[in-house]
Amino acid sequence: MTKQLRMRAGHSLAQALEEHLAEWSESTGVTVEIWALPGRDVPARIARAVLATLGESLFNVERHSRATVVSVAVTLGPAGLRMTVSDDGVGFSGPATGRGVTAMRAHFADVGGTLSVNGVPGEGTTVTGAVPRSRQGR
Ligand SMILES: Nc1ncnc2c1ncn2[C@@H]1O[C@H](COP(=O)(O)OP(=O)(O)OP(=O)(O)O)[C@@H](O)[C@H]1O
Ligand SMILES: [Mg+2]
Repeated sequence: MTKQLRMRAGHSLAQALEEHLAEWSESTGVTVEIWALPGRDVPARIARAVLATLGESLFNVERHSRATVVSVAVTLGPAGLRMTVSDDGVGFSGPATGRGVTAMRAHFADVGGTLSVNGVPGEGTTVTGAVPRSRQGR
C-alpha cells in the first residue's frame, strides 16, 4: 500500500516533504538527496497532488528500482511548480503504464499540470511533474 501523505496543521509543504522523505529513507535504507524544496506554500490542492505523487513515486522506487539514491526537487519558479523524483536504479524501457503512473498523471492533471515518467534501462527513472503558474491561483 502507498502510505497516505498528509500535511499536519501549521506545517508547510516543504516541512511535509522533508519529514516524509526522512522517514521513508530511514525505513527503506535508500539515500534521499533533497536538491530543492519550495520556499513558500502553494494552494492546498496542489500540495496534496505533490504529496500524493511523491508517495506513489517512492513506492515505485522501493518496489521496482533497486536504487541506492533518490534525488528530489520541488521548486516554485516564474513558470510555476516543478517536481522531479529521480533514482539511480534499474530503470525500464518503453512507456510506463500501470495504476500508479495513471494515478500520478491524474493528480497533476486535476490541478492543471502534466506529468511524465521516464525510465532508462540500467540508468534509472525520473518522474517529472509541472503545474504552470497561471493555474496556481485557481
Ligand atoms: N522507479 C522505478 N524503477 C524501475 N521501474 C519503474 C519505476 N517506476 C515505475 N517503473 C516501471 O513502470 C511500471 C508502471 O508503474 P506503476 O506505478 O504504474 O505500476 P506498478 O508499480 O507496477 O503497480 P501499481 O499499480 O501497484 O503502482 C512498473 O511496473 C515498473 O515496471
Ligand atoms: Mg506503482
